[in-house]
Amino acid sequence: MSVKSRPFNFAAGPAALPLEVIEQVSKDVLDFRGQGISLLEQGHRTPVFSEIRDELKSSLKELLALDDEHEIVCLQGGARQQFAMTLLNFCHGGLTPAYINTGHWGYRASVEADLGGYNPEIYWSDRENGYRKIPSKPVEISKKHAFVHVTGNETIHGIQIPEDPSQIVKTDNHIIMDTSSDLLSRPLPCKKYGMIYACAQKNLGVVGNTVVIIHRDLLKNSREDLPPVFAYKNLVKLDSIYNTAPVLPIYVSLLMCRWIKKEFGTLEAVAKFNQQKADMLYELLDKYPDFYTDHCEVNARSTMNVILKFKKPELQDKFIKQAAQKGFINVKGHRELGGIRISNYNAVTLEAVQSLKEFMEAFVTSTS
Ligand SMILES: Cc1ncc(COP(=O)(O)O)c(C=O)c1O
Repeated sequence: MSVKSRPFNFAAGPAALPLEVIEQVSKDVLDFRGQGISLLEQGHRTPVFSEIRDELKSSLKELLALDDEHEIVCLQGGARQQFAMTLLNFCHGGLTPAYINTGHWGYRASVEADLGGYNPEIYWSDRENGYRKIPSKPVEISKKHAFVHVTGNETIHGIQIPEDPSQIVKTDNHIIMDTSSDLLSRPLPCKKYGMIYACAQKNLGVVGNTVVIIHRDLLKNSREDLPPVFAYKNLVKLDSIYNTAPVLPIYVSLLMCRWIKKEFGTLEAVAKFNQQKADMLYELLDKYPDFYTDHCEVNARSTMNVILKFKKPELQDKFIKQAAQKGFINVKGHRELGGIRISNYNAVTLEAVQSLKEFMEAFVTSTS
């Protein structure tokens, strides 16, 4: 298949990447920077890797407007490993973790705490209701905890919390956010978070890199008497090369940052673009409420993952089949929830969403 005829990919992750990033990586896989060796053969203790890592850190710093109070590390093990590492590092001296669960991933983080014997306290959850909303007012957490965990965007349920955590939680505790499916999709007031983390396979490149950004005040609270492979202090001190660093995914994250800066300049511009695309899809759901049903309340609607079902459930398979025939792939909802999930990450073009919207409109007319 020619790369010029790629289908429109709405996968939730591993997700669509900009073609120019893929083309750059494919050149680098053959010969990285004219050195005669492949990117795949590039060592992590080389000046070339140090440059890649440092440029990624400075790009994240610039895009997220981070000050010098934040440390950035690139780790392995995905977002789920962070569910565990936050517990290992911060829950000591009798402090337990607190969770606000707006969807599946927050819930999984709290289950990890439960299974590990950390006695998580869940202050708010919409699990009973199938995760359809966010707290209507800030949840008050006045007791001292190791941290309060929130999820920026719930990838399965299509629920996104506001950038400013004070709109959903009132607390003096450090807030830790899983921002796996919305990091770099919008600006964030990073000062208000003790830590944010994201696996890379949505807006930040490919699987294998996990970015962790920790405020120094929280880092101070982390344990040192841990196996060093799990100790944030050690990983920060060694600047992401305690393990043999996964050079390729870290490099792809750098290319994604460069692409964002070139295409959009700022995260404000990225957010506007994503909102424009998401609005097109939500407008369609609002236009045909007797045909498509929306999963969540309007103020919880995610710009990243639009979830919908059908008034007539039997139409779902027909929709997926016809969509694939027209070149719209990976629109099937997560097995946990069913329905349709349209992922709208940074690399999903306006043309892709516009074309999908036209297909969805035609689907209503042809099947009503
Ligand atoms: C919000 C969120 N958190 C956590 C995860 C789990 O990530 P990983 O598979 O990298 O552990 C995902 C995966 O899709 C996710 O979307």
